[in-house]
Amino acid sequence: MSDRTEPVPVGAPRRSLSSTVARPRHLTAETRERAQQVVTLYPEPRSALIPLCHLAQEQDGWLTPEAMEDIADLVGVTPAEVYGTATFYDMLHTEPVGTHLVAVCTNIACLLNGAAELLEHAESTLGVNAGGTTADGSITLEEAECLADCDRAPCVQVNHRFVGAQTPETFDRLVAELRSGDRAGDIPRHGTLNRVRRTTGLEADPAQVASERAAMAEAQARRAGSGPSGGGS
Ligand code: FES
Repeated sequence: MSDRTEPVPVGAPRRSLSSTVARPRHLTAETRERAQQVVTLYPEPRSALIPLCHLAQEQDGWLTPEAMEDIADLVGVTPAEVYGTATFYDMLHTEPVGTHLVAVCTNIACLLNGAAELLEHAESTLGVNAGGTTADGSITLEEAECLADCDRAPCVQVNHRFVGAQTPETFDRLVAELRSGDRAGDIPRHGTLNRVRRTTGLEADPAQVASERAAMAEAQARRAGSGPSGGGS
């Protein structure tokens, strides 16, 4: 029915940040370069885990097991930790999703304004239940909690972009436009963070970061060496 593939289990816990692994990298050179720049913005590399998940998702449309392995190497955690973190957040997908992730809110304001009927209509016209992906891979339908757009109920988002209140008729038009590419200008494919790359703003000098990290490690080692400072808890 659907062409979705089953999620592949993530590998066993392993290695440190400095590890070099003889395996093909999954993230492209461009994504890796951006990821390394993001890592330098944080005092601890592992703090960049979620932004890196978003970068990887932007590359592939979802978080592949291979991408999670690369991220683990970049921030010095295990692939299982990347997987465990990613699965906690709704916006990160560890199995394939369609080009368009269509979310229908069924929380109270939307429910009172026809959300249940709209979702039922969506399921029947798309031929999938909420959580499923159409056979052509173009749409994944999702039932969402309040999307903070209650005054335009029933609220629908596509790829996390608001598309306003929908009726069954306008929903069908929306789906047709998504499939034909007519909405590609305002709704890029799933995973796209932004359409315009920022070229200014937060940047870190790798040499400065390295020296600050070394100083931090030295201070930590000193603290550990000096033992408990005594006193209460
Ligand atoms: S209840 Fe649907 S957006 Fe808030």
